Amino acid sequence: MALEFLKIQDEGFVRLVTISRPKALNALNTGVLAELMAEMQRAEADPGCRVVVLTGEGKAFVAGGDIAQMSEMNPAQALKYAEQGHALMRFMEGMTKVVIAAINGYALGGGSELALGCDIVIASRSAKIGQPEVKLGIIPGFGGTQRLARVVGRNAAKEWVLTGDMYTAEQAMRIGFVNKVVDDDKVVAEAMDMAKRIAANGPVAVAVAKKAINEGLQMPLNQALEYEASVFANLFDTHDQKEGTKAFLQKRTPKFEGK
Ligand code: CAA
Repeated sequence: MALEFLKIQDEGFVRLVTISRPKALNALNTGVLAELMAEMQRAEADPGCRVVVLTGEGKAFVAGGDIAQMSEMNPAQALKYAEQGHALMRFMEGMTKVVIAAINGYALGGGSELALGCDIVIASRSAKIGQPEVKLGIIPGFGGTQRLARVVGRNAAKEWVLTGDMYTAEQAMRIGFVNKVVDDDKVVAEAMDMAKRIAANGPVAVAVAKKAINEGLQMPLNQALEYEASVFANLFDTHDQKEGTKAFLQKRTPKFEGK
């Protein structure tokens, strides 16, 4: 498929996906959302891809949903648009592959929500992050009122969503939105480096660990611990578990096959 809004680059098991609509600060119109969904589906199905790094071209990661498109929408169209955004973030969360956001600049509205749908967030020191939707007379529609509160807590989420203020990467790291802040010219390199470390680990274990954290957060603790024990036990039937433990004892690097 010819891509209009994305650039793709593979380095070993890591796929770098760059959103490239710089004239509109990479705003998520329906076309960008559709291409992102198709690329995530392709990454999920590709055994040659273990981790996706998502970044933006130019001065923005993503400056939000597309305000020009939204200005013309009626409620039925807005619902469809929100559902398209939700479908993408839910697909990313459900992937067996890991998705890392490399926030290179503005991550506002739908851009902040896209990062919230990723597993890990690295941000450049000068990045600006926030949920400014109320300034437009709307609210976050791609999961911001829900995921932000779950990631940073109720009160911080309310401050972000109700003021619409922009925050620095350091401020976003202090409340747990961002994992790591790096110099502007290092953000993609840092995300790629972390992605490669994850890609070198047992792929089945990485997928099961991601799922255990995501699913467990939806459960009461006792049920979540039972869930963890059962998926931990299931791994003892995998090639990767045999290879990983044997390689340690034989003092060599494991050759994981993802099965
Ligand atoms: N949608 C559509 N176009 C956008 C856009 C967006 N979210 N953000 C920026 N653009 C466009 C601008 O209209 C401008 O286009 P023109 O050159 O054709 O005029 C171009 O990108 C460059 O933007 P600016 O001139 O505004 O750049 P700046 O450096 O002066 O300001 C900014 C940067 C502070 C990020 C500013 O662009 C801005 O505030 N953008 C909107 C941020 C926003 O409100 N995001 C939330 C959108 S609503 C949403 O996301 C809902 C949801 O949950 C899905």
